[in-house]
Amino acid sequence: MSPIPLLDLKAQYASIRDEVGVAVTGVLDEQRFILGEQVEAFERGVGALSHTRYAVGCASGTDALLLAFRALDIGRGDEVIAPPFTFFATAGAIHNAGATPVFCDIEPRTFNIDPAAAAAARTSRTKAVVPVDLFGQIAALESVTAVLPGIPVVEDAAQSIGASRVIAGQRRMAGEAATIGTLSFFPSKNLGAYGDAGMMLTQDEALFKRLMRLRTHGGARTYYHDEVGYNSRLDALQAAVLLVKLRYLQDWSAARRANAAYYTAAFADLPDVVTPHTDPANEHIFNQYTLRVPRRDALLEHLKAQGIGHSVYYPLPLHLQPCFSYLGYRAGAFPESERASREVVSLPVFPELTAAQRDEVVARVRGFFGR
Ligand SMILES: Cc1ncc(COP(=O)(O)O)c(C=O)c1O
Repeated sequence: MSPIPLLDLKAQYASIRDEVGVAVTGVLDEQRFILGEQVEAFERGVGALSHTRYAVGCASGTDALLLAFRALDIGRGDEVIAPPFTFFATAGAIHNAGATPVFCDIEPRTFNIDPAAAAAARTSRTKAVVPVDLFGQIAALESVTAVLPGIPVVEDAAQSIGASRVIAGQRRMAGEAATIGTLSFFPSKNLGAYGDAGMMLTQDEALFKRLMRLRTHGGARTYYHDEVGYNSRLDALQAAVLLVKLRYLQDWSAARRANAAYYTAAFADLPDVVTPHTDPANEHIFNQYTLRVPRRDALLEHLKAQGIGHSVYYPLPLHLQPCFSYLGYRAGAFPESERASREVVSLPVFPELTAAQRDEVVARVRGFFGR
């Protein structure tokens, strides 16, 4: 069998090529490329999916975090609590807002922020907390809010659009229960653009107005500037593509869940392999299907030799990144994050994976364990 990629965007494109062609041609015919009708329709669509009153498109998931911090007046002298086992942007945006990232460890089962550790990281300078919904599963937002009363929650939902979690008896969507939720439409996400794109979600009208202003140089009216903002807009071509893809998102995420369930059953008897934590009250969308394996590096070599796509998200936790050495963290500071970095490996879980490809992945992983 030919090599199996970690993600096959060409297979997805083949299934929607004609619709995307029509949508893109429509924008080209109009020649209106920045914000506009498609962007507003896409904002309405994602707001409806996410159960949020307001949705503001922007240039990337990274900018969505940065604008969220700015809208909350977070800057120099302020601290923002975040897990170190996440994509770099979570903490990079805190730094770029002028604030100080304060890391706390993760729960080993879900890879998400440990609420008790978040509470312990609070100081008089704490201005926000950033739970990350890693790999597509919503963090324990209700516990984070309970232990950090009065602290705004910026939910980094870059990997979890459409995921849901039962909170106080109600099913809440990714981004819905936060002060501001942030999304990424990076091409590898469950809803991926054909370039960079992002979005901010909120239920708060004042924050919505501020976010709208911040994405267009800090002015509500063209050429009048209340504050210094950014050029961070979602463009019409990306919105047109994303509007087409939004129609398929739930089916694609369901296909990812089915692939994940298949793997989890197929790996159940493997010694030492920990499959992803699942919970019907916390519906995972499996942006990544991530195993924990103690002999991880040997498995990586094996998968490479066998042509099975894989990746390590993330090999070095953020508190140990050279750019954050100024924060003064040492190896050993966050044992669960560091152990996760040594043990994780993500496997192909994309919706277009064929049954034959899935079985091949299972056979190759099992082969490594001599099963
Ligand atoms: C957890 C997390 N936060 C933030 C981002 C940043 O998003 P973007 O790449 O759209 O800037 C990403 C994705 O790349 C992510 O996975």
